[in-house]
Amino acid sequence: MALKPVTTPDVEAATIELTLDGEKVTAKAGVSLYDVISSTGKIIPAMCYHYTFDPFGSCGMCLVMQEGKRAPVRSCTAKAAAGMVIRTEGEDLFLARKKGVTKHLSVHPLDCPVCDADGHCELQDNAFLHGVTHIDNAKQKNIPEDTRSLVLDFNMNRCIACGECINICKDVQRIDALQFIKKGGFTQVVAKGDQALDCEFCGDCLAVCPVGAITNKYSKYVYKPWQLRKTTTTCNYCGDGCQMILETKDTQVVRVTSSLSWKNKWGDRLDTANGHGGLCVRGRFGFQFITNEARLTHPLVRTPAGLTPSPWMDALDLAAGRLAYVKATYGSQAIAGLITARCTNEDLYVFQKLMRVVIGTNHVDSSARYGHINFVQAMKHALGLGRMMNSSQDLTKAKAILVVGANITETNPVASVRVKAAIGTYKAQVIVVDSLQTPIAKLASHPMMVKPGSEGMFITGMVKSVIQQDLVDEDATTQYPQAFAALKNAMATVSLADIAEQTGIPVAHIQETACIFAESPRSIILCGEGVLRQADGYRQVLNLIDLAWVTGKLDKTGCGINTFIEEANEQGAVDMGVAPEFLPGPVSYDDPSIRQKFQSEWKTQLPCTAPGADLMNILKRCHSGEIKALYLVGENPVSTLPASCEVTAALSKLDVLICQDPFLTETGKLAHVVFPACTFAEKDGTVTNQEGKVQYVRPAFDPLGESARDWHIMMGIANGLGASWDYETTHDIQKEIRKLLPGYYNLGRPQKVEARPKEYLQGPYLTEVADHYAVSNRSLRRPFRLKLIPLLYHSGKLSTQDSGLLAIAPNAKSLSLHPDDLKKLGVQSGDHVRLTTDQGSLEIGTQSDVFVLPGSYVVPEHFNDPPVKDLMGMEIDPHTHVPYFKLTSVTVEPV
Ligand code: SF4
Ligand code: SF4
Ligand code: SF4
Ligand code: FES
Repeated sequence: MALKPVTTPDVEAATIELTLDGEKVTAKAGVSLYDVISSTGKIIPAMCYHYTFDPFGSCGMCLVMQEGKRAPVRSCTAKAAAGMVIRTEGEDLFLARKKGVTKHLSVHPLDCPVCDADGHCELQDNAFLHGVTHIDNAKQKNIPEDTRSLVLDFNMNRCIACGECINICKDVQRIDALQFIKKGGFTQVVAKGDQALDCEFCGDCLAVCPVGAITNKYSKYVYKPWQLRKTTTTCNYCGDGCQMILETKDTQVVRVTSSLSWKNKWGDRLDTANGHGGLCVRGRFGFQFITNEARLTHPLVRTPAGLTPSPWMDALDLAAGRLAYVKATYGSQAIAGLITARCTNEDLYVFQKLMRVVIGTNHVDSSARYGHINFVQAMKHALGLGRMMNSSQDLTKAKAILVVGANITETNPVASVRVKAAIGTYKAQVIVVDSLQTPIAKLASHPMMVKPGSEGMFITGMVKSVIQQDLVDEDATTQYPQAFAALKNAMATVSLADIAEQTGIPVAHIQETACIFAESPRSIILCGEGVLRQADGYRQVLNLIDLAWVTGKLDKTGCGINTFIEEANEQGAVDMGVAPEFLPGPVSYDDPSIRQKFQSEWKTQLPCTAPGADLMNILKRCHSGEIKALYLVGENPVSTLPASCEVTAALSKLDVLICQDPFLTETGKLAHVVFPACTFAEKDGTVTNQEGKVQYVRPAFDPLGESARDWHIMMGIANGLGASWDYETTHDIQKEIRKLLPGYYNLGRPQKVEARPKEYLQGPYLTEVADHYAVSNRSLRRPFRLKLIPLLYHSGKLSTQDSGLLAIAPNAKSLSLHPDDLKKLGVQSGDHVRLTTDQGSLEIGTQSDVFVLPGSYVVPEHFNDPPVKDLMGMEIDPHTHVPYFKLTSVTVEPV
């Protein structure tokens, strides 16, 4: 956040003493006097103040008397100083504040009965508190409501010109989409340029508005705050794991709020790094999918007439019966399961247990295989860690942040606010390596726009530069002389000039970024889908680990290697052992002593004859006929994977395909049995965010229709297969997990992690390192690069079921390209072009975008219309089997 804390990790402000209402209090010199007052537990009125940004001082409510001054002072803008004598209460102050409220009310419409903020309004509260019962000379503003924005309406008759909306947008979100203008004799808030507001729609301005001047279009005039039931839960879209409040009426989500509001203005300005309690557009406005009419409300079973509604018991009997038949006829190894990482930890745990213990197969995987597993496997292999290393506090207080292949403001918008705070508050140097000019690149001190797919080359360039410029940390490298010699050896053939050529970044810039990263006292690495979901993702994480190691950033406080996760519970999926290589922990499935521990806990023999199949191997084995039965929970491979994977053909060979999902997906349409799962809003349990925090998911209402919680359905199948599971609640499952993983349910507090590179650097590293830097020879047969990218307003395919998000970002059915490329092609923005790759060809509209690098073409990954994903080739990581299909070479022609 952009407020300027007086105490930073580098400068400790002096402790001073002052007197408040006759009591001596201590404070840090220079903090807002308002903060000092609130830290003693006193609450004085304040309508324009919020701890997330610098005091604005417009409302005139936070008045106090300071000894030596004749008039009251505004405590929010006054800075605490030694020896100050302050009085916060008294008749004079009461009357001065009452005058302030009266002034605001004299131009306020008093339309409380129809205002969405009625009962939740700071002006109303203060009018009540100060007994303002009568207004002389009231004046109406008569400003027409501004309803031009897609999501937010602006009723400037109600605005008290506190500036909170403008300040939070500018200083916290660093978007700066709003401004004051003087119109019709009144100060009004409008979108910059007095246009329809077109921003990231995070809703922070809506949240902090102390009155009803900004309203949520999706829920306007349909509720009074006290009529809504409030359920605090965890957002189900991305790995940031934001805490949200689902406000519901019966089984309808009316609006989503969070702890960010004018009510939480009494935050702690001394430590701004704990998060601001906000949400992003997906969390705040993407709630309509929960009650989408297309939700499945009954089980479906395949009959000659197609998929037909069925009673639960019949559908469960059918699914369990078919699985039992396949197991008896072909053996357990003919059955596999895939589950989405949007499920809770309890769902995930039960799923892998069903597959391993009841069915007897280790062919089990989750959507973490699409990328996160690259990070986990590399971190485990090199450092003995199964997740990212730093907290959001570390991120905010970093001095240098290397963001590689991570469009963080789009994939993980709320966590990206920590990076924005590092830039704004602590003046961190931020190096962004990406092939798009992302929003974070625009804020960064060192944006490095590399050619698509060359992020890994840039990392190699940084490692080379560190060695070449002698920026290595002696302590870190002398501990492992052989490893350092092996690294230098591997680097001997690496040429910075070649890297500059391949990345498009001059050598001097690569060297400068290496220098910044190496010399900063607190450097943090952040990698995302541009590394983990691109070819060589696993190797690139290992190379990032090298960069951190040789610069001494592996074990110093505030340094480390991190990733931001796209799906809500990918970390939980790995922790719960939903991968053939891991048991819950995550610990190695291959280790006999570990298997033994689980065998005795689960009282079973684990399948260990052959390595279990992961996502791509499962599909391969479906194709070859080795796998006869597949159980999919929330996974939709037909829609996710490119046509070259022949998923439909593979699934059509199955004897039994069971799909469990809130919606009838493209894959579900091929199934023999479809179970209606409920959404996160109807579930209880926990999810684990990217930091390793385990957080509650709480039900806002019962599962809709006959839909059911995922683990309930799994238990039905397990018992249909002869098990006698008797979990009654998620607590029963948690009890079992806690026994296996003591400390995992340390809710809200991730366990501290410490890198343990010794075994790696003294062992496998010595022989592996040369391979890590070997240049892959990928044939790029066509002149341009086509990339599938995530969008801020969407999350996988789930958000495409959400009318709220679709209204903001419908499928534009177009390819974004640089205006220079449009010119070269001789077409106008909006015209159609033909895309041709080795996999096929299709026509698509165009859209000019200056933030796309010339020569590259991007399409959102969320929509399959037109089916651009089917133009993508497929490469499978040799170590982690992560499928890479987000980037390909392409020919583009006008049509
Ligand atoms: S919704 Fe967010 S980005 Fe848009 S104006 Fe409000 S604070 Fe700014
Ligand atoms: S719209 Fe709300 S937050 Fe913005 S200036 Fe007006 S009252 Fe303050
Ligand atoms: S940042 Fe992620 S977890 Fe937070 S509200 Fe947005 S989608 Fe949800
Ligand atoms: S809160 Fe201090 S002037 Fe508004």
